[in-house]
Amino acid sequence: MPRAARGYRCAACGWTTAAYAGRCSQCQAWNTLEPFAESRGPASIRGASPALPARTLALNDVPDEAGLRLPTRIDELDRVLGGGLAPGSLVLIGGDPGIGKSTLVLQAAARLAAQGKSVAYVCGEESPRQVRMRATRLGVADAGITLIPETNLDACLATAAAAGVDVLIIDSIQSVYVEGLETRSGGPAQLSEAGARLVTFAKGNEIATIVTGHVTKGGEIAGPRLLEHLVDAVLYFETAEGGSVRVLRAVKNRFGATDEVGVFEMTGEGLQSVENPSSALLESHDAMASGCAVTAVIEGSRPLALEVQALAVPTNLASPRRIASGLETSRLHLLLAVLARRGGINTGGMDVVASVTGGLRLRDPAADLAVLAALASAATDQPLPRGTAFLGEVALSGTIRRAQQAQRRLAELGRMGFTRCVVPAGTPPAEGIQLEPVRTVRDALTRSLR
Ligand code: TYD
Ligand code: MG
Repeated sequence: MPRAARGYRCAACGWTTAAYAGRCSQCQAWNTLEPFAESRGPASIRGASPALPARTLALNDVPDEAGLRLPTRIDELDRVLGGGLAPGSLVLIGGDPGIGKSTLVLQAAARLAAQGKSVAYVCGEESPRQVRMRATRLGVADAGITLIPETNLDACLATAAAAGVDVLIIDSIQSVYVEGLETRSGGPAQLSEAGARLVTFAKGNEIATIVTGHVTKGGEIAGPRLLEHLVDAVLYFETAEGGSVRVLRAVKNRFGATDEVGVFEMTGEGLQSVENPSSALLESHDAMASGCAVTAVIEGSRPLALEVQALAVPTNLASPRRIASGLETSRLHLLLAVLARRGGINTGGMDVVASVTGGLRLRDPAADLAVLAALASAATDQPLPRGTAFLGEVALSGTIRRAQQAQRRLAELGRMGFTRCVVPAGTPPAEGIQLEPVRTVRDALTRSLR
């Protein structure tokens, strides 16, 4: 008797679902779902006799590997990883093409090799010659890295396992393929299967494995987002258009804190860890220009000072443009609405552009007041007072809410030379920086603009 279907699988992309549907939710193809009952294991065990019992193990007999890390000795990368690569872990480094993924993994490979680790680098994306050129530029060509110029994933894994490498790097996941799958290379089914094999490989051989993956704007379906649930750590590279600062952010980390960020600068000799990110982020700060406001956000375990820039110009467009970079457009709309209703500054007849300098994306609500101040300053074309920073979340009612970890933020602003900060009323005093407590948006604006 045939076993009852356990679900339906799309013949085009491999997506599975418990309930039948006429259209695949993943690749949007019509009438491609087919019932399946078997597990996705190797063909030989499909539909086989009852499974053998699995191995058991006393929890206390499992070696305690806390602290057993493989540091890459690239400070900002180790920070984001939580102290280095964990043995047998699978790490995904995602980002837009050209942001510096290959550069970072090659530098990490070189540092690891310099510590006597054996490192294999699968260059699926580029020819060995291109990798050599980059390595020469980075001054690491003689570091002792082994190249695997191959795109068949199983072949790469077999080579790395046989060589007993300490670290395997795959650049990129989209460039390798799993043989036997009929879907296109880089497609969702290929990515999921490759991800599953990589997990088995990394865990089974205790080989720390790093894969890179391109994400396109909007994180399209065939992107590495599909792998996020499989891998141990997901690090995404972010940047602002044209900036040289690169921010590496852990969006998932089974071995460390999520939301930890590493800050790098792309130079002529590769990526350099930025020791003092606030000063890199404030590099272009011009206190005399209108539309510029400084705040401090908490990123992972540390406070970072950064600048919000805004520009507002009269327009004849019926629906004026709103362009946001480094912050959500919806946040910009909301703050403009609050500015109009609660602050009395209407930008309805202006095109408005707002951006965060240095490539950081704002997630911290305590940056609201700085965005609002920058917008108000831009709309009225008046610079904000020199040496003054802004801290606080803005509510729809126009009240300013307290920021978490205000003391650490204020200390960082003080360290960066700011002498005054507009803060929500009730913020405890801080050493070295004069506080300007405000309750509402209107309050904040009257203290900042004439
Ligand atoms: P790359 O690491 O190839 O990006 P990805 O792998 O994410 O696609 O980096 C590409 C960019 O970095 C390219 O525009 C050249 C620049 N770059 C430098 O500025 N300095 C360097 O030392 C290197 C190696 C690259
Ligand atoms: Mg690359």
